[in-house]
Amino acid sequence: MPAREVNRDRFRRYWDKESASFDKQMQFFERLFAPDSRGWVCGQAAGDTLEVAIGTGLNLPHYGAGVRLTGIDFSPAMLDLARRRAEQLGRPVDLREADANVLPFEAACFDTVVCTYGLCAIPDDRRAVREMSRVLRPGGLLLLADHVAGTAWPTRAVQRLLEVFTVPLQGEHFLRRPLYLVQAEGLDIEQRERSKLGMIERLAARKPAA
Ligand SMILES: C[S@@+](CC[C@H](N)C(=O)[O-])C[C@H]1O[C@@H](n2cnc3c(N)ncnc32)[C@H](O)[C@@H]1O
Repeated sequence: MPAREVNRDRFRRYWDKESASFDKQMQFFERLFAPDSRGWVCGQAAGDTLEVAIGTGLNLPHYGAGVRLTGIDFSPAMLDLARRRAEQLGRPVDLREADANVLPFEAACFDTVVCTYGLCAIPDDRRAVREMSRVLRPGGLLLLADHVAGTAWPTRAVQRLLEVFTVPLQGEHFLRRPLYLVQAEGLDIEQRERSKLGMIERLAARKPAA
């Protein structure tokens, strides 16, 4: 089996195992670093919307009623929890097991693509952003929120140290910059907000109309 697939299977098992404690961990992280990012991202979603790496579905309560939602994740255990949450909320959502690096959708079939705290964990973030852009309709909106490399070097030094452990053990990256990947795909950045020493970044980027 190619190394990329071995890694993907290993990290999928990691997320399956983490699923039970994930919501609690996120609650702690978000209270400290990003209390309002889910509302900021999901409040701008409209029409046919794809959420990439949907996890346990923590964004589900934040979408407007008019949003027609599809969610993918490669961890069956995370998806089970998302399915349960969707049922509890009475929110229709088409949930599928899929790899963010090979989205099982035709080109240009979503008005909005959302990804929160996913690009720090998806092994090939460049390819994932390319896929997100591919499935967006011209004029569609890409909405991202994640933890990224901080603005000052001492912050980045701590993040680099953390990565020594988190990248091999969990596939978790701290020094990524989705902004540059989105720009490389030719999307226009409409909104960009950075906070908490630059470690939290949220973006709204539009795919140019054809
Ligand atoms: C930190 S969690 C974020 C979950 C959710 N987006 C949120 O905001 O709570 C990262 C998620 O990325 C998923 N993931 C990682 N690599 C993936 C890939 N290649 N394809 C699909 N999902 C992936 C994991 O299964 C996990 O659910």
